[in-house]
Amino acid sequence: MHSHLVGHGSFLPPKIVTNDDLSKIVETSDDWIFPRTGIKQRHLVENETTADLGEQAALKAIESAGWTVDQVDLIILATSTPDMDFPSTATLIQNKIGATKGFAFDVQAVCSGFIYALSTADLYLRAGKAKRAIVIGAERMSALLDWTDRTTCVLFGDGAGAMALEAKEDDSAGIIDSILYSDGTFSDILCAGSPEHAKTYMNGREVFRHAVSKMADVSKEILEKNNLHFSEVTHFIPHQANERIIQHIGHDLGLSTEQVISTVKNHANTSAASIPLAFDEIACAGKVKKGDLLLFTALGAGITWGSNLIRL
Ligand code: ACO
Repeated sequence: MHSHLVGHGSFLPPKIVTNDDLSKIVETSDDWIFPRTGIKQRHLVENETTADLGEQAALKAIESAGWTVDQVDLIILATSTPDMDFPSTATLIQNKIGATKGFAFDVQAVCSGFIYALSTADLYLRAGKAKRAIVIGAERMSALLDWTDRTTCVLFGDGAGAMALEAKEDDSAGIIDSILYSDGTFSDILCAGSPEHAKTYMNGREVFRHAVSKMADVSKEILEKNNLHFSEVTHFIPHQANERIIQHIGHDLGLSTEQVISTVKNHANTSAASIPLAFDEIACAGKVKKGDLLLFTALGAGITWGSNLIRL
C-alpha cells in the first residue's frame, strides 16, 4: 500500500496584523522585523479556536480530494495549541466536520508536528489500518505569546493547513519515506508553559543554528537513502519560520529559487501549520502536477526535526 497525496486545503483567520500594526503595541518596526525574518504580516485569531481553523482546512482538503466526509477514517492533528487539555482537538474537528468513522488523535512536535503527523498517517495507511486520512496542522500561536516581548511576538502567526492521503496499491506515487528525530537535551532553548516561562521563550541564535544545520542534514539523508538527488526535487518546502533560515538552507543544498518555497512573508511562523499552508498556496496557484517530487523538512521545539519525501 502507498499513501497518495490526493487533496489539500488551508484556512487563515481574516484578521491581518502588519509589522507597522505591531509597532504600535511593542517597540519594534518593519525596518527591524523584515530584514531579519522576511515577515511582513501575520493572520491572528479573534474568536476562532484551533478546532475552527482545523475544521475549515480539513473540509477544503476533503473537497479537493473529491471525498465525502463519511469516507474519512483517520484524522491526525498536529498542534501545540489544543483547545482543551482533553479531549484532543482532533476529536473536536472530527465532530465539527461530521465525521463518524475511524479514529482521531493529536500529535505534538511543535513546528515539526506536521512532519510527524504525516509520517504517522503514512504508517497507518501502509499497514491497512485506515484508507482515507486527513492530516492537519492547526495553530493559535498567538495564545502562547507574551505580547510585551518584542523578541518573540513578532515572529508568529495563526492558521491551519491540511492534506488528504489515500491508501492505494499504485506504487508510482505516494509518500516515499519519512525520517524523524528528537533531542530532548535542547528542550530549554525554545519552550512555553514551563514554571519559568509561561509564554514562549526562545534563544533565537541557538534555534537558528540548529534549524539551518539539522534541516539541511535530514534533507540530504532522506534523498541519499532513497537514491534521489536535489536536482530531482520539484518543490522543497521547509518549515516557514524565517526567510533567512529558508534561504540559508536552500543555498547550502544548492537549490534554485524556483525549488525553494517561501510563504513566511505573509503568514509568519504558524508552527505545525506552516508546511501544509505553503503547499496549499502553491497547489492552488497551479504550480504542482502529477509526478512532482516534494521534500518537506522542519525543526521545532523539543528539539524535534525531520523530513517527508513525496511523489505526487
Ligand atoms: N524589534 C526591534 N528590536 C528587537 C526586536 C524587535 N522585534 N527583537 C529584538 N530586538 C533587539 C534586541 O533587544 C537586541 O537589542 P540590543 O542589542 O540592544 O540588546 C537586538 O535587537 C538584537 O537582538 P538579537 O536577538 O541578537 O537579534 P538577532 O540578530 O539574533 O535576530 C532573530 C533575532 C531574528 C529572532 C534571530 O535570532 C533568528 O532568526 N532566530 C531564529 C529563530 C526563529 O526563527 N524562531 C522561530 C521559532 S523556532 C522554529 O520555528 C524553527
